[in-house]
Amino acid sequence: MHSSVRSLLVLFLGSFAAAAAAPGSRERERIRRRDGGRSDLTCSAASFRALSWTAENFYFHSDITYSTPAHQIDDGEVSFNLSNAALSYVMDCSAMSFQLEDFFYGDQWYPCKPSNEADPNGSGVAAFRYDRRSGRIDINQTWACNDGDPRYPVYLNASGTTNVTLTCNHTTWQNQNWTMGQTYSTDTVDCVPANVTIMPANIMAWS
Ligand SMILES: *[C@@H]1O[C@H](CO)[C@@H](O)[C@H](O)[C@H]1NC(C)=O
Ligand SMILES: *[C@@H]1O[C@H](CO)[C@@H](O)[C@H](O)[C@H]1NC(C)=O
Ligand SMILES: *[C@@H]1O[C@H](CO)[C@@H](O)[C@H](O)[C@H]1NC(C)=O
Ligand SMILES: *[C@@H]1O[C@H](CO)[C@@H](O)[C@H](O)[C@H]1NC(C)=O
Ligand SMILES: *[C@@H]1O[C@H](CO)[C@@H](O)[C@H](O)[C@H]1NC(C)=O
Ligand SMILES: *[C@@H]1O[C@H](CO)[C@@H](O)[C@H](O)[C@H]1NC(C)=O
Ligand SMILES: *[C@@H]1O[C@H](CO)[C@@H](O)[C@H](O)[C@H]1NC(C)=O
Ligand SMILES: *[C@@H]1O[C@H](CO)[C@@H](O)[C@H](O)[C@H]1NC(C)=O
Repeated sequence: MHSSVRSLLVLFLGSFAAAAAAPGSRERERIRRRDGGRSDLTCSAASFRALSWTAENFYFHSDITYSTPAHQIDDGEVSFNLSNAALSYVMDCSAMSFQLEDFFYGDQWYPCKPSNEADPNGSGVAAFRYDRRSGRIDINQTWACNDGDPRYPVYLNASGTTNVTLTCNHTTWQNQNWTMGQTYSTDTVDCVPANVTIMPANIMAWS
């Protein structure tokens, strides 16, 4: 066992974070292309130079059903796949809530699960929270890159925030001639899945 483990904390220069948070249109285009062709940069290179996430198929749905005028059943769900420009696998992010009226209030972190193809080394950890009213999405992720010296993987964590405006179908229905045993009313919100780019605001790397 060797105790002289190299423990190096690299705090990314503020200029990087600033550039990453507010890229010009040219920069944004370049990042998007790299994100699309993830394989052309190594994990470390993409992490340090072209980091961005995509929340793929970001979806929100809610149902409020009154089985009687006094009894309601409600649930809201949000789901998406989180892809990181530096990684070849996606994280599966989803959550359910029973908290009326908006279901998601941006106050609770939900863990994302590695999808089937996830990093076999188990280094990928991600979480998200969502505020339905403002559309704010916060994510954070911790991962490892093994493309350098294999004895010293580089570990990174980063967080990012964006606002998304979803296109949603809000349908309400009321049983005009309700009798016991029938559904009294329903209120459904179903949104079109959207792909959302999220730029990193804080990145930290260590090895
Ligand atoms: C999420 O990613 C997995 C693995 O790539 C894929 O099978 C699944 O269809 C994706 N789901 C969505 C909602 O994009
Ligand atoms: C998992 O770790 C091994 C040994 O450190 C490394 O060779 C391999 O590339 C890693 N796999 C991934 C997907 O990072
Ligand atoms: C990242 O997510 C976790 C939940 O797993 C949360 O507790 C933590 O505060 C988040 N970190 C940042 C920097 O947002
Ligand atoms: C990264 O990890 C450090 C140490 O655990 C923690 O203080 C920091 O908040 C994390 N940053 C993010 C963006 O998750
Ligand atoms: C999201 O919207 C809020 C106002 O609702 C604004 O203050 C914030 O800067 C926006 N964030 C981003 C990343 O656009
Ligand atoms: C909205 O919901 C209604 C009723 O369920 C349906 O007929 C319509 O096709 C939906 N529109 C979209 C854009 O999903
Ligand atoms: C409501 O239902 C009752 C019993 O099924 C029926 O007699 C009545 O005609 C219905 N009224 C309307 C407006 O449909
Ligand atoms: C979102 O991205 C996925 C995977 O790249 C693609 O299949 C889908 O058509 C995209 N959806 C939209 C609305 O652009």
